[in-house]
Amino acid sequence: MKGIVLDRTLPGQIDFREIPENQLQADQVKIRIKAAALNHRDEWCRQGLYPNISDGVILGSDGAGVVEAVGSQVTNWKVGDEVIINPALFWGNDQRVQSRDFQIIGMPSHGTLADFIIVSSDRIFPKPSHLSWEEAASLPLAGLTAYRALVYQGKIQASDRVLITGFGGGVAQFAAQFAIQKGASVYVSSSSSEKIQKAEALGAIKGFNYKEANWVEKALEEMGGFDLIIDGASGDQLNQLIKVARPGGRIVIYGATLGNPKTMEARRIFWNQLKIIGSTMGSDEDFKSMLDFVNQQKIHPLVDQVFPFERAKEAFDRMRAGDQMGKIVLIP
Ligand SMILES: NC(=O)c1ccc[n+]([C@@H]2O[C@H](COP(=O)([O-])OP(=O)(O)OC[C@H]3O[C@@H](n4cnc5c(N)ncnc54)[C@H](OP(=O)(O)O)[C@@H]3O)[C@@H](O)[C@H]2O)c1
Repeated sequence: MKGIVLDRTLPGQIDFREIPENQLQADQVKIRIKAAALNHRDEWCRQGLYPNISDGVILGSDGAGVVEAVGSQVTNWKVGDEVIINPALFWGNDQRVQSRDFQIIGMPSHGTLADFIIVSSDRIFPKPSHLSWEEAASLPLAGLTAYRALVYQGKIQASDRVLITGFGGGVAQFAAQFAIQKGASVYVSSSSSEKIQKAEALGAIKGFNYKEANWVEKALEEMGGFDLIIDGASGDQLNQLIKVARPGGRIVIYGATLGNPKTMEARRIFWNQLKIIGSTMGSDEDFKSMLDFVNQQKIHPLVDQVFPFERAKEAFDRMRAGDQMGKIVLIP
């Protein structure tokens, strides 16, 4: 089979090449990939900034496709079924936290940026019929992360004023769309006025440019701060979020694109009775709830650009530059 393999000996760190195919096991299914999507994780791997990475592995956690073959014990799927893949492996039984064995498809096991992938049959779900292949491939990892952060960890209420930071990001666009559908008053932050306009067109009330030094003061003056903040950037900006949270507010962190903060406004956290909560991807239960919600509300992932596998390096470079609005998709 052919896929986009991590190879840090090369100048672009990735290569579209032929690799030997694994044997299909009795409880597994083989999927012909119709579309796959990038997550920032893929780019962290390319930069060598993700733990436990090894060259020679096909990258990619998100994919949608058609069942090509089923193992001898698989009875609930048949050749030709249209599916999406849950990339979270071995979460375990505890809804609060993943097990020590937790893994994500696409490192250390082979991922979705390939013509075929073999996965356990319990990792596939019917492709939402209202979605194109490109949209369906965009959903799993980022949709799951956004859903758990908002619903399980953030305990979103319709009465909440919610801030989603960095709306252009893959997770953030889902968090904003889900929060809007949950009936909350949704605000976004972004470095781009076009992206803010896009959020407003989808039902967000307003956006703030996080590059403007006074955006926190502006938000506090205009609407008094936020009950719930969903953030994937962290870094020293976390202190701005602590400042713009309303007393009693919750800040859910699912990523640290900017790294760790050097200092932390501890006094403001305790005085304002804030909750700072961590969130990572999601359990099988979260995945099923997210998928049901997307099907019920007919939510469409925002697809930024679609690249053929042969142009994967351009797709990865676009993610590194942060130019995207939503998900970057690759097709075989
Ligand atoms: N814990 C988990 O399970 C999990 C799952 C998925 C992702 N993550 C992490 O979450 C982060 C986002 O992931 P992703 O896949 O959504 O990435 P992505 O699509 O590459 O997100 C890029 C977006 O980040 C936003 N951003 C950049 N600098 C920012 C800043 N200073 N403040 C606020 N937003 C900023 C930008 O938004 P604008 O263009 O609007 O400015 C940019 O478009 C990454 O660090 C990733 O590793 C964690």
